[in-house]
Amino acid sequence: MNTPHINAPDGAIASIVLMPGDPLRAKYIADTFLEDVVQFNEVRNMFGFTGTYHGRRISVMGSGMGMPSIGIYSYELYKFFGVNTIVRIGSCGSYSPDLNLYDTVLVEEAYSESSYAQVQSNESSKVLPSTPALNETLKGIAKNLDIELHTGRIHSSDVFYRENPDFQALFNEQGCIGVEMESFALFNNARVLGKNAACLLTVSDSLVTHEVTTAEERQTAFTNMMKIALELAE
Ligand code: HPA
Repeated sequence: MNTPHINAPDGAIASIVLMPGDPLRAKYIADTFLEDVVQFNEVRNMFGFTGTYHGRRISVMGSGMGMPSIGIYSYELYKFFGVNTIVRIGSCGSYSPDLNLYDTVLVEEAYSESSYAQVQSNESSKVLPSTPALNETLKGIAKNLDIELHTGRIHSSDVFYRENPDFQALFNEQGCIGVEMESFALFNNARVLGKNAACLLTVSDSLVTHEVTTAEERQTAFTNMMKIALELAE
């Protein structure tokens, strides 16, 4: 099957796909955690791999940064490659004094000023949910692994470099505990196509305290998030 952005043989992609933003992160996950790995996509270097985790099948593919990019890849995976579930695994900035660096967040809702859902399917809501049943499964896995999960609403922003980031209003009035740039489009596509979507995030920086993480420290926290997501393998 060929789409404009994914060139993969039929059946090469598992029904569950984990999506980090960075395609090299997808490669790292495949190399580090999966066995019997086969690469299924290299169009635009947006690498995708399928392998097994503890004998169960799962795929991992980069989404790129921002809603237009994850919008394209998630739509094609759901619509043309038989994918049922996509879990974004990414990083976020914290808007909340209670959300610290390296914490793991399960996103229950995405709030966005983006026109993505309006343009894509005439959806006027600024808040879109992830899939509740999938979230319950992920919470159960985290509990079994003894990893603490923070849950809540995230801000999906179109802009990383804001001149006046008024995050207080987004925290106080919209209830957003942090910020990233992809969930809203992913959740929209899942809803429109009748599929499942979730998003796990590791806090990489804080707009409250202005702390940032080092690459090495991020890796450890990232492993917690990965262990949860990989348990979804079928
Ligand atoms: N803004 C947007 N996306 C992000 C951030 C941020 O501060 N940190 C990690 N992803």
